[in-house]
Amino acid sequence: MNILVIGGGGREHAVIKSLKKNKSVETIYALPGNGGIAKDAECYPIKATDLEGIVAFTKTHKVDFAVVTPDDPLVLGLVDELEAAGIPCFGPHKNAAILEGSKVFSKQLMKKYGIPTAASETFTDADKAIAYLKNSAYPAVIKADGLALGKGVIIAQNFSEAEQAVRDIMCDKVFGASGNSILVEEFLTGPEVSVLSFTDGKTVVPMISSMDHKRALTGDKGLNTGGMGTVAPNPYYTEEIAKECMERIFLPTVEAMNKEGRTFRGCLYFGLMLTPNGPKVIEYNCRFGDPETQVVLPLLKSDLLEIMQAVHDGTLSSDKVKFKNGAACCVVVASGGYPQKYNSGYPITLPQTGADEYIYIAGAKEENGTLVTAGGRVLGAVAARDTLEEAVKDAYALAAGVRFEHAYMREDIGAKALAALK
Ligand code: AMP
Ligand code: GLY
Repeated sequence: MNILVIGGGGREHAVIKSLKKNKSVETIYALPGNGGIAKDAECYPIKATDLEGIVAFTKTHKVDFAVVTPDDPLVLGLVDELEAAGIPCFGPHKNAAILEGSKVFSKQLMKKYGIPTAASETFTDADKAIAYLKNSAYPAVIKADGLALGKGVIIAQNFSEAEQAVRDIMCDKVFGASGNSILVEEFLTGPEVSVLSFTDGKTVVPMISSMDHKRALTGDKGLNTGGMGTVAPNPYYTEEIAKECMERIFLPTVEAMNKEGRTFRGCLYFGLMLTPNGPKVIEYNCRFGDPETQVVLPLLKSDLLEIMQAVHDGTLSSDKVKFKNGAACCVVVASGGYPQKYNSGYPITLPQTGADEYIYIAGAKEENGTLVTAGGRVLGAVAARDTLEEAVKDAYALAAGVRFEHAYMREDIGAKALAALK
């Protein structure tokens, strides 16, 4: 079988390495892939958002199954276009990807179907939003409706910050049309948990839970990033909470989407906060998380391609998705300065990986036979072990062997999780 994977980050590298374990896989094409993925797949420089280019590629290359991983092509409707061209896909259709594509849509869905989430108001007019924010409680959470490269959430500590955020998003359109509407949301507190799940629209099978580390610097300081590291499982996510989430959040979400005529098939990501009043949805994503995938897939015992095919065929069942006991940790090694200004083009030296160790390349390209940095998050160093303590220690030992100029990593990935275990 020939598989097409859309995207070119660390998450896609992890997906591709997992897919390759299936013996029937002959060739994996990655569009656009990256310099590290090129060791595991044939990469072609076609952007993930170039829907026409991708469909054209499938006319000249035999593709038996496609995996669409990033949010933007999903929200743009790539799965619909590929399926119209006769290619079976893993990933939601456009009308279901709206769960991530519009925060206003997902908030209305949760309200309509009684799915626990933060209280909120929607605004399409900046003056009305600002008038409302004058009398709000602080901190207040302001969210652009559409996709914003993970930057569309602002936690305003006071009215002046809130007013500035509304003007940036709605008047200056710093996130483009994504800021035509905004949500003003109640500020929730509690541990955050990422739960990725497989669903074929009938059955939902959660994967092992994980914990992201979104701030750039050690000690949860600095700006928000795409994610500086992850651990799985998340120790706050007990069996009791998992059961409650299944009954009150996961199944109701999938059923709500069916009732709306928007059946979701693919990876449905639940961003949860475990508040004093129970688990609540912070966000839905219509795809695998990055860098959550880098710790979840190394613990998957079952065959990823078979699961993805079952999701597509509508034959998913929980016995098809088994995880190992144990834990994994991913330490992201980034370009110093990320998520703001940083330089690229530095040669990268990689360490040898041992058993259950992985280097997933995210922001790197090949130049004259050398791998050089080409992005903010350059790679993830991952170790899977019997215990979280060993996984964290060995992921850091692996990351210490990664060399490039101005490399930066947080020093405390997993620290909060280890403290919670004690
Ligand atoms: P998102 O881009 O939706 O993942 O949001 C980014 C981060 O903002 C989340 O991981 C939370 O830490 C925080 N956040 C979002 N919504 C809320 C909320 N209602 N209350 C508190 N924090 C929030
Ligand atoms: N790591 C968060 C995300 O993928 O959205």
